[in-house]
Amino acid sequence: MNISVVGTGYVGLVTAACLAKLGHKVSCVDVDEDKIRIINSGESPIYEAGLGEIISGMVPEKLSATANLEKAVLDSEVTFICVGTPSKKDGSIDLSHVGDVCRSIGAVLSKKNGFHVVVVKSTVVPGTTDCFVTQLLEKMSGKKSGGDFGVAMNPEFLREGVAVKDFLNPDRIVVGTSDERTRSVLDGIYGDFDCKIVYTDPTTAEMIKYVCNSFLATKLSFINEVGNICKKLGVDVYDVAEGIGLDHRISPAFLKAGPGFGGSCFPKDVLALIKKAREVGGEPLLLERVIEVNERQPKKVLELIRSKITISGAKIGVLGLAFKAGTDDMRQSPTIPIIEGLVKEGAIVLAYDPQAMDNAKKIFGENITYSTSAEELLEESENVLVLTEWGEFRKLDYSRMRGGYLFDARKIVDKDSLPKKVKYEGLSW
Ligand SMILES: NC(=O)c1ccc[n+]([C@@H]2O[C@H](COP(=O)([O-])OP(=O)(O)OC[C@H]3O[C@@H](n4cnc5c(N)ncnc54)[C@H](O)[C@@H]3O)[C@@H](O)[C@H]2O)c1
Repeated sequence: MNISVVGTGYVGLVTAACLAKLGHKVSCVDVDEDKIRIINSGESPIYEAGLGEIISGMVPEKLSATANLEKAVLDSEVTFICVGTPSKKDGSIDLSHVGDVCRSIGAVLSKKNGFHVVVVKSTVVPGTTDCFVTQLLEKMSGKKSGGDFGVAMNPEFLREGVAVKDFLNPDRIVVGTSDERTRSVLDGIYGDFDCKIVYTDPTTAEMIKYVCNSFLATKLSFINEVGNICKKLGVDVYDVAEGIGLDHRISPAFLKAGPGFGGSCFPKDVLALIKKAREVGGEPLLLERVIEVNERQPKKVLELIRSKITISGAKIGVLGLAFKAGTDDMRQSPTIPIIEGLVKEGAIVLAYDPQAMDNAKKIFGENITYSTSAEELLEESENVLVLTEWGEFRKLDYSRMRGGYLFDARKIVDKDSLPKKVKYEGLSW
Protein backbone atom coordinates (compact mmCIF):
# COMPACT_ATOMS: atom_id res chain seq x y z
CA MET A 1 0.00 0.00 0.00
CA ASN A 2 1.12 3.60 -0.53
CA ILE A 3 1.11 5.37 2.82
CA SER A 4 1.92 8.90 3.99
CA VAL A 5 2.87 9.71 7.57
CA VAL A 6 2.65 13.33 8.71
CA GLY A 7 4.95 14.22 11.60
CA THR A 8 8.17 12.23 11.76
CA GLY A 9 9.01 12.33 15.46
CA TYR A 10 9.31 9.33 17.79
CA VAL A 11 5.91 7.92 16.77
CA GLY A 12 5.72 8.99 13.11
CA LEU A 13 9.22 7.94 12.12
CA VAL A 14 8.96 4.55 13.84
CA THR A 15 5.53 4.01 12.23
CA ALA A 16 6.84 5.02 8.80
CA ALA A 17 10.04 2.94 8.99
CA CYS A 18 8.24 -0.17 10.31
CA LEU A 19 5.46 0.07 7.70
CA ALA A 20 8.17 0.35 5.01
CA LYS A 21 9.90 -2.71 6.46
CA LEU A 22 6.58 -4.56 6.21
CA GLY A 23 6.52 -3.85 2.46
CA HIS A 24 4.55 -0.63 2.11
CA LYS A 25 5.81 2.42 0.22
CA VAL A 26 5.91 5.21 2.76
CA SER A 27 6.37 8.94 2.43
CA CYS A 28 7.18 10.88 5.63
CA VAL A 29 6.03 14.48 5.79
CA ASP A 30 7.49 17.02 8.21
CA VAL A 31 7.99 20.77 8.48
CA ASP A 32 11.50 20.25 9.86
CA GLU A 33 13.88 20.44 6.88
CA ASP A 34 16.76 19.00 8.93
CA LYS A 35 14.79 15.85 9.72
CA ILE A 36 13.83 15.47 6.05
CA ARG A 37 17.45 15.78 4.95
CA ILE A 38 18.71 13.30 7.56
CA ILE A 39 16.01 10.70 6.74
CA ASN A 40 16.64 11.02 2.99
CA SER A 41 20.34 10.45 3.61
CA GLY A 42 19.36 7.08 5.11
CA GLU A 43 19.88 8.00 8.76
CA SER A 44 17.68 8.53 11.81
CA PRO A 45 17.35 12.01 13.33
CA ILE A 46 16.52 10.43 16.73
CA TYR A 47 18.09 7.65 18.75
CA GLU A 48 15.92 4.56 18.93
CA ALA A 49 17.28 1.00 18.93
CA GLY A 50 17.14 -0.58 15.46
CA LEU A 51 15.57 2.45 13.79
CA GLY A 52 18.70 3.65 11.98
CA GLU A 53 19.25 0.21 10.44
CA ILE A 54 15.67 0.02 9.11
CA ILE A 55 15.86 3.54 7.65
CA SER A 56 19.19 2.91 5.93
CA GLY A 57 17.79 -0.30 4.39
CA MET A 58 14.51 1.28 3.22
CA VAL A 59 15.62 4.68 1.82
CA PRO A 60 14.98 5.60 -0.98
CA GLU A 61 12.92 2.75 -2.51
CA LYS A 62 10.43 2.11 0.28
CA LEU A 63 10.89 5.17 2.49
CA SER A 64 11.42 8.85 1.76
CA ALA A 65 10.79 12.18 3.46
CA THR A 66 9.36 15.42 2.13
CA ALA A 67 7.89 18.77 3.14
CA ASN A 68 5.37 18.44 0.30
CA LEU A 69 2.23 17.21 2.08
CA GLU A 70 0.05 17.65 -1.00
CA LYS A 71 2.11 15.28 -3.14
CA ALA A 72 2.47 12.75 -0.30
CA VAL A 73 -1.31 12.65 0.25
CA LEU A 74 -2.15 12.55 -3.47
CA ASP A 75 0.29 9.66 -4.00
CA SER A 76 -1.00 7.57 -1.07
CA GLU A 77 -4.19 5.77 -0.04
CA VAL A 78 -3.78 6.26 3.71
CA THR A 79 -2.37 9.17 5.75
CA PHE A 80 -1.32 8.75 9.37
CA ILE A 81 -1.32 11.92 11.49
CA CYS A 82 1.52 11.66 14.04
CA VAL A 83 2.23 15.27 14.99
CA GLY A 84 2.73 16.33 18.59
CA THR A 85 -0.11 17.23 20.96
CA PRO A 86 1.80 19.02 23.75
CA SER A 87 0.30 20.27 27.02
CA LYS A 88 -0.97 23.81 27.27
CA LYS A 89 -0.43 25.71 30.53
CA ASP A 90 -3.85 24.64 31.86
CA GLY A 91 -3.15 20.93 31.18
CA SER A 92 -5.36 20.66 28.10
CA ILE A 93 -3.74 19.54 24.85
CA ASP A 94 -2.58 21.89 22.15
CA LEU A 95 -4.32 20.75 18.96
CA SER A 96 -2.73 23.40 16.77
CA HIS A 97 -0.42 20.96 14.92
CA VAL A 98 -3.25 18.46 14.39
CA GLY A 99 -5.47 21.31 13.20
CA ASP A 100 -2.86 22.62 10.73
CA VAL A 101 -2.35 19.15 9.31
CA CYS A 102 -6.10 18.44 9.02
CA ARG A 103 -6.64 21.72 7.17
CA SER A 104 -3.84 20.85 4.73
CA ILE A 105 -5.02 17.27 4.22
CA GLY A 106 -8.63 18.47 3.79
CA ALA A 107 -7.56 20.91 1.08
CA VAL A 108 -5.76 18.10 -0.78
CA LEU A 109 -8.77 15.76 -0.42
CA SER A 110 -10.89 18.31 -2.26
CA LYS A 111 -8.71 17.65 -5.35
CA LYS A 112 -8.28 13.93 -4.89
CA ASN A 113 -10.26 11.27 -6.70
CA GLY A 114 -10.83 7.96 -4.97
CA PHE A 115 -11.28 6.96 -1.34
CA HIS A 116 -8.60 8.15 1.09
CA VAL A 117 -8.25 7.15 4.74
CA VAL A 118 -6.98 9.57 7.39
CA VAL A 119 -5.74 7.88 10.56
CA VAL A 120 -5.18 9.86 13.76
CA LYS A 121 -2.25 8.32 15.65
CA SER A 122 -1.46 11.38 17.75
CA THR A 123 -2.84 11.13 21.28
CA VAL A 124 -5.99 13.27 21.36
CA VAL A 125 -8.66 13.61 24.06
CA PRO A 126 -11.97 11.75 23.65
CA GLY A 127 -14.18 13.38 21.05
CA THR A 128 -11.37 15.02 19.07
CA THR A 129 -11.43 12.67 16.05
CA ASP A 130 -15.20 12.88 15.61
CA CYS A 131 -15.68 16.52 16.50
CA PHE A 132 -12.47 18.29 15.47
CA VAL A 133 -10.59 16.18 12.92
CA THR A 134 -13.57 14.96 10.90
CA GLN A 135 -15.25 18.37 10.88
CA LEU A 136 -12.08 20.11 9.67
CA LEU A 137 -11.50 17.52 6.95
CA GLU A 138 -15.12 17.84 5.77
CA LYS A 139 -15.03 21.63 5.84
CA MET A 140 -11.76 21.92 3.91
CA SER A 141 -12.51 19.18 1.38
CA GLY A 142 -16.20 19.87 0.83
CA LYS A 143 -16.60 16.07 1.01
CA LYS A 144 -18.30 13.67 3.41
CA SER A 145 -16.55 11.38 5.86
CA GLY A 146 -17.62 7.75 5.53
CA GLY A 147 -18.52 8.18 1.85
CA ASP A 148 -15.79 10.21 0.11
CA PHE A 149 -13.03 9.58 2.63
CA GLY A 150 -12.57 7.61 5.84
CA VAL A 151 -11.36 8.58 9.31
CA ALA A 152 -9.95 6.32 12.01
CA MET A 153 -8.37 6.78 15.42
CA ASN A 154 -5.50 4.36 15.96
CA PRO A 155 -3.67 5.17 19.20
CA GLU A 156 -0.01 4.24 19.51
CA PHE A 157 1.28 2.36 22.56
CA LEU A 158 5.01 2.08 21.73
CA ARG A 159 7.55 2.80 24.45
CA GLU A 160 10.52 5.00 23.60
CA GLY A 161 13.72 2.96 23.86
CA VAL A 162 12.06 -0.18 22.47
CA ALA A 163 9.78 1.56 20.00
CA VAL A 164 10.60 -0.56 16.92
CA LYS A 165 10.12 -3.80 18.84
CA ASP A 166 6.85 -2.52 20.33
CA PHE A 167 5.50 -1.33 16.99
CA LEU A 168 6.25 -4.65 15.29
CA ASN A 169 5.09 -6.83 18.22
CA PRO A 170 2.22 -4.98 19.88
CA ASP A 171 0.13 -6.45 22.72
CA ARG A 172 -2.93 -5.28 20.78
CA ILE A 173 -3.89 -2.81 18.08
CA VAL A 174 -6.81 -0.47 18.66
CA VAL A 175 -8.73 0.83 15.66
CA GLY A 176 -11.54 3.29 16.23
CA THR A 177 -13.74 3.89 13.23
CA SER A 178 -17.42 4.00 12.48
CA ASP A 179 -16.96 3.07 8.86
CA GLU A 180 -16.59 -0.45 7.37
CA ARG A 181 -14.56 0.61 4.33
CA THR A 182 -11.99 2.35 6.54
CA ARG A 183 -11.85 -0.70 8.78
CA SER A 184 -11.04 -2.95 5.82
CA VAL A 185 -8.26 -0.57 4.66
CA LEU A 186 -6.69 -0.75 8.14
CA ASP A 187 -7.14 -4.54 8.07
CA GLY A 188 -4.91 -4.44 4.98
CA ILE A 189 -2.19 -2.78 7.07
CA TYR A 190 -2.60 -4.58 10.40
CA GLY A 191 -4.24 -7.89 9.38
CA ASP A 192 -0.97 -9.85 9.49
CA PHE A 193 0.10 -8.62 12.94
CA ASP A 194 0.13 -11.42 15.49
CA CYS A 195 -2.14 -9.79 18.07
CA LYS A 196 -5.77 -8.99 18.74
CA ILE A 197 -7.18 -5.98 16.90
CA VAL A 198 -9.71 -4.15 19.05
CA TYR A 199 -12.29 -2.50 16.79
CA THR A 200 -14.26 0.26 18.39
CA ASP A 201 -15.49 3.79 17.78
CA PRO A 202 -13.00 6.72 17.65
CA THR A 203 -13.96 8.19 21.05
CA THR A 204 -13.50 4.87 22.84
CA ALA A 205 -10.14 4.40 21.06
CA GLU A 206 -9.05 7.83 22.30
CA MET A 207 -10.16 6.99 25.85
CA ILE A 208 -8.33 3.62 25.77
CA LYS A 209 -5.05 5.45 25.12
CA TYR A 210 -5.55 7.94 27.98
CA VAL A 211 -6.69 5.30 30.43
CA CYS A 212 -3.76 3.05 29.53
CA ASN A 213 -1.19 5.78 30.19
CA SER A 214 -3.01 7.03 33.29
CA PHE A 215 -3.10 3.52 34.76
CA LEU A 216 0.64 3.00 34.16
CA ALA A 217 1.43 6.44 35.62
CA THR A 218 -0.74 5.54 38.63
CA LYS A 219 1.28 2.34 39.17
CA LEU A 220 4.51 4.39 39.10
CA SER A 221 3.27 7.05 41.52
CA PHE A 222 1.91 4.27 43.74
CA ILE A 223 5.25 2.46 43.95
CA ASN A 224 7.13 5.76 44.43
CA GLU A 225 4.82 6.60 47.33
CA VAL A 226 5.34 3.14 48.79
CA GLY A 227 9.09 3.61 48.28
CA ASN A 228 9.10 6.82 50.29
CA ILE A 229 7.40 4.98 53.16
CA CYS A 230 9.81 2.04 52.79
CA LYS A 231 12.80 4.36 53.12
CA LYS A 232 11.53 5.55 56.48
CA LEU A 233 10.89 1.96 57.60
CA GLY A 234 14.29 0.69 56.47
CA VAL A 235 12.62 -1.62 53.94
CA ASP A 236 13.77 -2.12 50.33
CA VAL A 237 10.88 -1.16 48.02
CA TYR A 238 12.33 -3.39 45.27
CA ASP A 239 11.86 -6.44 47.53
CA VAL A 240 8.31 -5.30 48.21
CA ALA A 241 7.69 -4.78 44.47
CA GLU A 242 8.94 -8.29 43.74
CA GLY A 243 6.69 -9.70 46.43
CA ILE A 244 3.57 -8.01 45.11
CA GLY A 245 4.48 -8.22 41.41
CA LEU A 246 4.41 -12.02 41.50
CA ASP A 247 0.69 -11.75 42.13
CA HIS A 248 -0.68 -12.13 38.58
CA ARG A 249 -3.45 -9.63 39.36
CA ILE A 250 -0.76 -6.97 39.90
CA SER A 251 2.17 -7.97 37.57
CA PRO A 252 5.77 -6.77 38.03
CA ALA A 253 5.54 -4.15 35.25
CA PHE A 254 5.81 -0.46 36.18
CA LEU A 255 6.73 -1.21 39.79
CA LYS A 256 10.25 0.20 39.68
CA ALA A 257 10.53 3.04 42.17
CA GLY A 258 12.67 5.96 41.03
CA PRO A 259 12.89 9.72 40.56
CA GLY A 260 9.42 10.01 39.00
CA PHE A 261 8.00 9.46 35.54
CA GLY A 262 8.75 11.79 32.66
CA GLY A 263 8.75 11.75 28.89
CA SER A 264 6.43 13.37 26.44
CA CYS A 265 3.44 11.16 27.29
CA PHE A 266 2.64 10.23 30.91
CA PRO A 267 2.68 13.71 32.49
CA LYS A 268 0.91 15.28 29.51
CA ASP A 269 -1.68 12.53 29.10
CA VAL A 270 -2.64 12.34 32.80
CA LEU A 271 -2.97 16.14 32.89
CA ALA A 272 -5.12 16.12 29.75
CA LEU A 273 -7.45 13.44 31.15
CA ILE A 274 -7.79 15.41 34.40
CA LYS A 275 -8.63 18.53 32.42
CA LYS A 276 -11.14 16.71 30.22
CA ALA A 277 -12.73 15.00 33.24
CA ARG A 278 -13.17 18.36 35.01
CA GLU A 279 -14.60 19.86 31.82
CA VAL A 280 -17.36 17.24 31.71
CA GLY A 281 -18.13 17.50 35.44
CA GLY A 282 -15.96 14.62 36.69
CA GLU A 283 -13.78 14.62 39.84
CA PRO A 284 -10.47 12.92 38.97
CA LEU A 285 -9.12 12.95 42.55
CA LEU A 286 -6.83 9.95 42.16
CA LEU A 287 -5.27 11.23 38.92
CA GLU A 288 -4.59 14.61 40.50
CA ARG A 289 -2.71 12.83 43.30
CA VAL A 290 -0.76 10.79 40.72
CA ILE A 291 0.62 14.07 39.32
CA GLU A 292 1.30 15.52 42.80
CA VAL A 293 3.22 12.44 43.92
CA ASN A 294 5.21 12.54 40.69
CA GLU A 295 6.09 16.21 41.04
CA ARG A 296 7.24 15.56 44.63
CA GLN A 297 9.62 12.75 43.62
CA PRO A 298 12.52 14.89 42.24
CA LYS A 299 12.33 16.86 45.51
CA LYS A 300 12.78 13.55 47.38
CA VAL A 301 16.04 13.03 45.48
CA LEU A 302 17.25 16.49 46.48
CA GLU A 303 16.17 15.90 50.12
CA LEU A 304 18.14 12.66 50.21
CA ILE A 305 21.30 14.36 48.95
CA ARG A 306 20.80 17.31 51.30
CA SER A 307 20.47 14.93 54.25
CA LYS A 308 23.95 13.52 53.60
CA ILE A 309 26.12 16.30 52.15
CA THR A 310 26.32 20.08 51.91
CA ILE A 311 25.19 20.69 48.36
CA SER A 312 26.62 24.20 48.06
CA GLY A 313 30.08 23.96 46.52
CA ALA A 314 29.93 20.14 46.15
CA LYS A 315 31.09 18.63 42.86
CA ILE A 316 28.26 16.23 41.97
CA GLY A 317 28.45 13.94 38.95
CA VAL A 318 25.08 13.02 37.44
CA LEU A 319 24.89 9.76 35.50
CA GLY A 320 21.91 9.85 33.17
CA LEU A 321 19.91 12.70 31.68
CA ALA A 322 17.30 11.04 29.47
CA PHE A 323 13.92 10.41 31.13
CA LYS A 324 14.62 6.69 30.83
CA ALA A 325 17.19 4.34 29.33
CA GLY A 326 17.24 3.63 25.60
CA THR A 327 16.31 7.11 24.42
CA ASP A 328 17.83 10.55 23.89
CA ASP A 329 14.49 12.14 24.88
CA MET A 330 14.63 14.60 27.78
CA ARG A 331 11.08 15.94 27.51
CA GLN A 332 9.64 16.25 31.05
CA SER A 333 12.58 14.29 32.41
CA PRO A 334 12.80 14.29 36.23
CA THR A 335 16.53 14.85 35.72
CA ILE A 336 15.75 18.48 34.77
CA PRO A 337 14.25 19.69 38.10
CA ILE A 338 16.84 17.65 40.01
CA ILE A 339 19.82 19.17 38.19
CA GLU A 340 18.27 22.64 38.28
CA GLY A 341 17.74 22.19 42.04
CA LEU A 342 21.36 21.16 42.56
CA VAL A 343 22.64 24.12 40.54
CA LYS A 344 20.33 26.50 42.41
CA GLU A 345 21.72 25.26 45.72
CA GLY A 346 25.27 25.94 44.54
CA ALA A 347 26.47 22.50 43.41
CA ILE A 348 29.01 22.16 40.62
CA VAL A 349 27.27 19.64 38.38
CA LEU A 350 29.03 17.35 35.92
CA ALA A 351 26.77 15.23 33.74
CA TYR A 352 26.97 12.31 31.33
CA ASP A 353 24.43 10.39 29.27
CA PRO A 354 25.20 7.95 26.44
CA GLN A 355 22.59 9.52 24.10
CA ALA A 356 21.03 12.67 25.54
CA MET A 357 24.03 15.04 25.73
CA ASP A 358 22.94 17.19 22.76
CA ASN A 359 19.44 17.60 24.15
CA ALA A 360 20.87 18.34 27.63
CA LYS A 361 23.05 21.13 26.25
CA LYS A 362 19.94 22.82 24.84
CA ILE A 363 18.36 22.75 28.33
CA PHE A 364 21.23 23.44 30.73
CA GLY A 365 23.62 25.35 28.46
CA GLU A 366 26.75 26.30 30.36
CA ASN A 367 25.20 25.94 33.83
CA ILE A 368 26.69 22.45 34.10
CA THR A 369 29.79 20.67 32.77
CA TYR A 370 29.47 17.76 30.33
CA SER A 371 31.77 14.77 30.85
CA THR A 372 32.98 12.85 27.82
CA SER A 373 32.46 9.46 29.48
CA ALA A 374 30.95 7.90 32.58
CA GLU A 375 34.44 6.91 33.75
CA GLU A 376 35.71 10.47 33.48
CA LEU A 377 32.68 11.64 35.48
CA LEU A 378 33.40 9.10 38.26
CA GLU A 379 36.99 10.27 38.51
CA GLU A 380 36.20 13.99 38.54
CA SER A 381 33.24 14.08 40.94
CA GLU A 382 33.19 14.18 44.74
CA ASN A 383 29.77 12.50 44.86
CA VAL A 384 27.78 10.70 42.17
CA LEU A 385 24.04 10.59 41.49
CA VAL A 386 22.55 7.91 39.20
CA LEU A 387 19.35 9.17 37.55
CA THR A 388 18.81 7.03 34.41
CA GLU A 389 18.90 3.23 34.34
CA TRP A 390 21.29 2.80 31.37
CA GLY A 391 22.73 -0.73 31.20
CA GLU A 392 26.28 0.63 30.96
CA PHE A 393 25.90 2.33 34.36
CA ARG A 394 25.21 -1.08 35.94
CA LYS A 395 28.58 -2.34 34.73
CA LEU A 396 30.70 0.70 35.65
CA ASP A 397 33.76 0.30 37.83
CA TYR A 398 32.66 2.51 40.72
CA SER A 399 36.01 1.97 42.43
CA ARG A 400 37.14 4.80 40.10
CA MET A 401 35.22 7.19 42.35
CA ARG A 402 37.35 9.32 44.62
CA GLY A 403 35.11 8.44 47.58
CA GLY A 404 32.06 10.34 48.80
CA TYR A 405 28.46 9.29 48.29
CA LEU A 406 26.90 7.30 45.51
CA PHE A 407 23.22 8.30 45.41
CA ASP A 408 21.26 5.76 43.38
CA ALA A 409 17.79 6.85 42.26
CA ARG A 410 17.25 3.72 40.10
CA LYS A 411 18.63 0.85 42.13
CA ILE A 412 21.07 -0.21 39.45
CA VAL A 413 24.30 -0.29 41.46
CA ASP A 414 25.26 -3.40 43.43
CA LYS A 415 26.17 -1.72 46.70
CA ASP A 416 28.03 -4.79 47.98
CA SER A 417 30.55 -4.47 45.14
CA LEU A 418 31.47 -0.88 46.05
CA PRO A 419 34.85 -0.08 47.60
CA LYS A 420 34.85 0.99 51.26
CA LYS A 421 35.66 4.61 50.39
CA VAL A 422 32.25 4.98 48.66
CA LYS A 423 29.10 5.35 50.76
CA TYR A 424 25.90 4.11 49.06
CA GLU A 425 22.48 5.70 49.53
CA GLY A 426 19.39 4.43 47.68
CA LEU A 427 16.39 6.65 47.04
CA SER A 428 13.81 4.34 48.57
CA TRP A 429 15.70 1.25 49.69
N1 LIG B 1 6.74 9.60 22.07
C1 LIG B 1 6.05 8.55 22.48
O1 LIG B 1 6.56 7.64 23.14
C2 LIG B 1 4.58 8.42 22.14
C3 LIG B 1 3.95 7.19 22.30
C4 LIG B 1 2.60 7.08 21.95
C5 LIG B 1 1.91 8.18 21.48
N2 LIG B 1 2.56 9.38 21.36
C6 LIG B 1 1.79 10.52 20.82
O2 LIG B 1 2.13 10.64 19.44
C7 LIG B 1 2.16 12.03 19.05
C8 LIG B 1 3.51 12.38 18.49
O3 LIG B 1 4.46 12.24 19.53
P1 LIG B 1 6.03 12.27 19.22
O4 LIG B 1 6.72 12.00 20.51
O5 LIG B 1 6.33 11.43 18.03
O6 LIG B 1 6.18 13.82 18.82
P2 LIG B 1 7.49 14.57 18.25
O7 LIG B 1 7.44 15.93 18.81
O8 LIG B 1 8.69 13.73 18.45
O9 LIG B 1 7.22 14.64 16.68
C9 LIG B 1 6.25 15.43 16.09
C10 LIG B 1 6.72 15.77 14.68
O10 LIG B 1 5.67 16.46 14.01
C11 LIG B 1 6.27 17.47 13.19
N3 LIG B 1 5.26 18.47 12.84
C12 LIG B 1 4.71 19.44 13.63
N4 LIG B 1 3.82 20.17 12.91
C13 LIG B 1 3.78 19.62 11.67
C14 LIG B 1 3.05 19.91 10.49
N5 LIG B 1 2.16 20.90 10.45
N6 LIG B 1 3.28 19.16 9.40
C15 LIG B 1 4.18 18.14 9.44
N7 LIG B 1 4.90 17.82 10.53
C16 LIG B 1 4.70 18.55 11.63
C17 LIG B 1 7.40 18.00 14.06
O11 LIG B 1 8.36 18.69 13.28
C18 LIG B 1 7.94 16.69 14.64
O12 LIG B 1 8.93 16.12 13.81
C19 LIG B 1 1.76 12.81 20.31
O13 LIG B 1 0.37 13.04 20.29
C20 LIG B 1 2.12 11.87 21.43
O14 LIG B 1 1.36 12.09 22.60
C21 LIG B 1 3.88 9.52 21.65
